[in-house]
Amino acid sequence: MLNIALPKGRLGEKVYAMFENAGFECPSIKENNRKLIFENTEKQVRYFWVKPSDVAIYVERGAADIGVAGKDILLEYEPDVYELLDLDLGKCRMAVAAPASFRDNENRTLKVATKFTNIAANYYNSIGRQIDIIKLNGSIELAPILGLSDVIVDIVETGTTLKENNLEVKQTILPISARLIANKASFQFKGAQIEELLREVRNQVNSCD
Ligand code: PRP
Repeated sequence: MLNIALPKGRLGEKVYAMFENAGFECPSIKENNRKLIFENTEKQVRYFWVKPSDVAIYVERGAADIGVAGKDILLEYEPDVYELLDLDLGKCRMAVAAPASFRDNENRTLKVATKFTNIAANYYNSIGRQIDIIKLNGSIELAPILGLSDVIVDIVETGTTLKENNLEVKQTILPISARLIANKASFQFKGAQIEELLREVRNQVNSCD
């Protein structure tokens, strides 16, 4: 049985549809209930819905053999997993945003609010800018509005959240998308099954191009 961790939510549903089209269907997953685990013994797959930011933990520790996680999570937490494939879903970008009027004063330490402290630190380190990181857990857009920070580093998808809070993108740091990841030991012991799934899912990604 191949244990597959899917990110709960809209992205996870798109990912499941891709896996279903690839021949790894599990009809019981479509039942309207609050169960978290679904299996199809005939196809030898067991899916479970996991909070998106937790998928990499399940995979790293082997509770799931494979899973789907955003590149943002992989860069932020650097889990010890194999990254097998870019699924070309859940596309967005990591960006620096601030009020339109913001002008950086290089003589002052820049105050940066973010959930992604590692990504932010690496980015500002790469451009040699000294920063003070303020770690928040959500509603990051509030920070520059209330004077808690100068800028934010956050995910921008449609740009609506920024716009509705009078903020704008100042720099794009990285493009983000969903990645298929595998536990390193599972990749040895269940290699044939993972390779087969990888091949079929890759065909689905290519057919969507
Ligand atoms: C993310 C991100 C932005 C928003 C961007 O938040 O932190 O707030 O989505 O999307 P948009 O560009 O399409 O408006 P999420 O919904 O994940 O919630 P969060 O506040 O918990 O981070």
